[in-house]
Amino acid sequence: MMTQDPDQLTTTPDGRTHEEQPRWRQDFPIDWPQDEYLTRREFIKFLLLTSAAFSTGQLWFLVANFLQEQQAAAAPQVIARVDEVPVGGSLIFKYPADSPARLLVRVDEATFVAYEQQCTHLTCPVIPQVETGELLCPCHHGVFDLMTGRPLQGPPQRPLARVILEIRDGNVIATGIEKRTV
Ligand code: FES
Repeated sequence: MMTQDPDQLTTTPDGRTHEEQPRWRQDFPIDWPQDEYLTRREFIKFLLLTSAAFSTGQLWFLVANFLQEQQAAAAPQVIARVDEVPVGGSLIFKYPADSPARLLVRVDEATFVAYEQQCTHLTCPVIPQVETGELLCPCHHGVFDLMTGRPLQGPPQRPLARVILEIRDGNVIATGIEKRTV
């Protein structure tokens, strides 16, 4: 005897014949097993798509992390000679060579700091204010601490990426990028 796939059965919900069903159900018949079969199939499709999206997100995160680590591990690079930058002065540089613009600021005779130049809110260039110890973003009045790069007021929520510096043989040398989120 040939058995029929239960998923392919077409039945009414109460088991009575089509003619015995109320008028409204005759007018709008629902194929219950087929309907449940399709619902299951849609659900499995949804699960597969969700897990594919999740895996893609994880992969992207790993790649971004890898690229960030590569950048953080860039080789040391001379940015300027110490006597090229007066106290209170600043200059723009790139480190590594293909990076976005970075900002070197001489705070006093012996102290230099350097950060990415783009504000962490909407990437406007920040301006050093050595006398007040701040980096100012004129676009929406964001303010960062000059010594730490951390946001002090305004819309920015994340600190500026900090360039790690070394002073050696009269040179200011970038040796890495400090990764931080707070
Ligand atoms: S872009 Fe800097 S505060 Fe908005």
